[in-house]
Amino acid sequence: MNDDVFLGKKIVLGVTGGIAAYKSCQLIRDLKTRGAVVRVIMTPSACEFITPLTLSTLSQNNVIVNHLPSNQNEGVSLQTWHIDYGIWADLMIIAPCTVNTIAKIAHGFADNSVTTVVSALRSKLIIAPAADVDMYENSINLDNLEKLRKRNIFIVEGESGFLASGLEGKGRLANNSKIIDQAELVLSDINVDLKNKNILVTAGPTFEDIDPVRYLGNRSSGKMGYSIAKAAYLRGANVTLISGPTSESIYPEIKLISIRNASEMKTQIDANISENDALIMSAAVADFTPQNYSLHKIKKETEVSAIDLKETEDILYSIKNSKIKKVGFALETENGIENAKKKLTAKNLDFVVLNSLLDKDAGFEFATNKITIIGRNGQPKEFPLESKFQVANKILTELKKTLNEN
Ligand code: CTP
Repeated sequence: MNDDVFLGKKIVLGVTGGIAAYKSCQLIRDLKTRGAVVRVIMTPSACEFITPLTLSTLSQNNVIVNHLPSNQNEGVSLQTWHIDYGIWADLMIIAPCTVNTIAKIAHGFADNSVTTVVSALRSKLIIAPAADVDMYENSINLDNLEKLRKRNIFIVEGESGFLASGLEGKGRLANNSKIIDQAELVLSDINVDLKNKNILVTAGPTFEDIDPVRYLGNRSSGKMGYSIAKAAYLRGANVTLISGPTSESIYPEIKLISIRNASEMKTQIDANISENDALIMSAAVADFTPQNYSLHKIKKETEVSAIDLKETEDILYSIKNSKIKKVGFALETENGIENAKKKLTAKNLDFVVLNSLLDKDAGFEFATNKITIIGRNGQPKEFPLESKFQVANKILTELKKTLNEN
């Protein structure tokens, strides 16, 4: 597999003073698991919530708190450490970032370890704000966040939910996995290039019920489609995800429509398609469904020898709206290119994403995938085995080109 983009990457993690500071422990762990080198800096108020020793132990590096070393009188000096950190970093993340630190950065202050490094930073910066709802939604804070966005600072917005005050609303620190997904895009130099695009993604299997207990399903985990939806959102698109039953989770900002069977999938696609610029059909839709549904559990004594099936409607084929870009998948076990090309033509797709079940570690249930993209010019583009998130980005880059062809 291609190397993880985090491998050996130098990340400065700024931690500021809010209750969500405790979540930075897991963030450090996750970044280190991906192979990053992490140096932590903390504001003095962050130390009221969590100790430098904890973060130093987890990051396996020294933690800087005071931008002016407190024990200089004893002859200790970190010299121009803030400049060194600003040059050293491949990426800086501030998580959690308080409204105070957001305001300071928006106005160019450099009065503590975190803001001083920001002022000297050469790399890109990701900020994950966290605050109680009234502080978060305060118009001054929202203006400041807008200022940062205009300066190409990436904001991983807070999420809604139960807050430390007991109130409910926006302000929870974004999930670590979303911060890491954002960091992966930034480290991969992928731009926010799908702004103002509306993208409909389908994912997962469909379950075709036989009776209240049994169904016909398939092994799709939904990972590929969920990765596409997440990457498209982080690249600026408005994303609607129509998903069959899976155990995957999605960012709260993405509109999730849960369906169970092929017919419900079709109904939801029809209801949503016209608002979209593209449909990425990564769901493994059943081709057949039981002819009859039994309202009661079919008993053993019934001696069922066969279940009659009828064909489901081919959803991709049924969409004739030429304004919408259509991306299909082809999961094949033999004659991959040939079969994928047939699907491209028969379903009038803009491109088809072929994955072969013969490739090791690719396809259903794996975290990785290996795809070949075939467009209307018929020339296959092969990609290496990569994480499904990386694969998702390859598909979206291809989609972006197709959208530009209008
Ligand atoms: N698809 C669809 N509606 C269906 C079945 C499939 O829109 N009822 C879509 C899938 O989501 C995928 C593409 O069509 O994007 C190809 O699906 P696949 O199962 O590989 O191909 P089929 O056309 O069903 O042909 P076969 O199963 O014979 O390979």
